[in-house]
Amino acid sequence: MIKFLLNQSETIIDQIDPNTSVLDYLRDNLNRTGTKEGCASGDCGACTVVVAEAEGNQLVYHSANACITNIGSLHGKQLITVEDLKKDNQLHNVQQAMVDCHGSQCGFCTPGFIMSMFALRKNNVTADPHKTIESLGGNLCRCTGYKPIIQAANQSFESPSDDQFSEQHDTVIKHLDNINQQYPNAHLTHLDKQFFSPSTSDELAKLLVEYPEARLLAGGTDLCLEFTQFLREAQVLVHTGRVKDLATIELNDKSLVLGAAVTYSHAADQLISLYPDLKELIERLGSLQVRNQATIAGNIGNASPIGDMPPVLIALGAELVLRKGDERRTISIEDYFIKYKVTALQTSEFIESIIIPRPDPLADFKAYKISKRLEDDISATCGAFSIKIDQGTVSAIKIAFGGMAEIPKRAKYCEQALLNQPWNSQSIERAMVEFKKDFAPISDFRASADYRLDVSQNMLRRLYLELESNSQTIRVTQYA
Ligand SMILES: Cc1cc2nc3c(=O)[nH]c(=O)nc-3n(C[C@H](O)[C@H](O)[C@H](O)COP(=O)(O)OP(=O)(O)OC[C@H]3O[C@@H](n4cnc5c(N)ncnc54)[C@H](O)[C@@H]3O)c2cc1C
Ligand code: FES
Ligand code: FES
Repeated sequence: MIKFLLNQSETIIDQIDPNTSVLDYLRDNLNRTGTKEGCASGDCGACTVVVAEAEGNQLVYHSANACITNIGSLHGKQLITVEDLKKDNQLHNVQQAMVDCHGSQCGFCTPGFIMSMFALRKNNVTADPHKTIESLGGNLCRCTGYKPIIQAANQSFESPSDDQFSEQHDTVIKHLDNINQQYPNAHLTHLDKQFFSPSTSDELAKLLVEYPEARLLAGGTDLCLEFTQFLREAQVLVHTGRVKDLATIELNDKSLVLGAAVTYSHAADQLISLYPDLKELIERLGSLQVRNQATIAGNIGNASPIGDMPPVLIALGAELVLRKGDERRTISIEDYFIKYKVTALQTSEFIESIIIPRPDPLADFKAYKISKRLEDDISATCGAFSIKIDQGTVSAIKIAFGGMAEIPKRAKYCEQALLNQPWNSQSIERAMVEFKKDFAPISDFRASADYRLDVSQNMLRRLYLELESNSQTIRVTQYA
């Protein structure tokens, strides 16, 4: 049974196929057809809904793509759809702003935009153009054009923030707390399929031993695509999203330790404060809807050659704590990826946490993502560079790439060409030649092999120019 609030109504689901998406549940079971289906793969935002969770005495509102949100993940949360926004025949502020700014033509994308704007409005007091773009970056519109929609989002901040959801705020928190306390573990069963949502990692570990065939479900932003795009089905799903001791972020003397259930949105501030160069990469990883749900452990667990975090984590020398039952082992993330979609993970084992070393104050870190579109696009190639230059000589270097081989991989020939060499443009040109020995990329619809190779080699030049211009800025500042 799973229990959640659909707007203000307590909803219990006992019998449902555990592979069902929130979108199908809304449209097929409830006839709530305001939430639209465009792509069914998280790319267009037409299906955007808002999921509210109690965090202490606050409700946090996340936008999410209903098409790739698993129904079981709603347990203990509040689901708000576009039908819930109007009150007493009055449009909500964000809806009224959209009307006033003429932000809708055919209207197919409008409910999705409205829900993204609603989450933006609920989580912020004042309009911030950067946050507006970030909030709407996962929503596509084919006819109106984005200017009036962005204007509507900003204009909605001119109306008072209080609405029917503010009035119900405390009641909803109490209700959600009650559900989570009364039913810490959720379980769905339907014919021969099952869904488990445990609340501790001990229970999760036990379930994976009991059901070795189980698929782990974190944010579902990769896994649910197997259901919607390839029409596959999981017999047993075990959800990590409600495991409290996997949702932790710990910064100690040596490292940042991220639990496997930590999402990008949750980890972003901490990651960026340690490694400021990750800001652009994280903001360009999927859309806000995706980052609100998706975990870094899922990016690793998915073992895609085009995942963005694996090259970053390899260059940073991260380690993974893997757990099976009560046994734990720690491995370098580099050793996790064996060949295409084959990893070091054993049956019943799972990633428990990711250990990212604190930055070396004498080293530089840079990451570059190349994709066709700036927002919400998968990388053609993604390079990460960790480099230490000691009195003009490269004393340590780690370079890793995604999108260039069947697994995320170090550029070891290139590293060797730079290690213990003077940090100058001649060394970079030599390293660019060696780089060709590291990778033989493929051509696909994202990029040709030649383009991948050229643009990745050029990242070395960019690295050199950026570090040089930084050191010159520092020199100028020192002399000023
Ligand atoms: C529209 C869209 C845009 C995207 N853009 C990007 C992008 O720009 N860059 C990028 O890198 N990715 C992108 N992705 C892919 C995806 O969002 C990421 O890979 C994300 O990090 C997956 O995390 P998740 O929590 O959703 O994983 P899930 O989908 O829940 O799981 C993914 C896989 O990992 C396994 N898994 C989950 N947790 C664990 C664990 N603790 N231990 C072991 N295995 C585990 C699952 O069983 C599954 O096989 C995008 C996806 C979508 C839909
Ligand atoms: S239908 Fe396109 S993101 Fe869900
Ligand atoms: S109004 Fe038609 S797609 Fe946006």
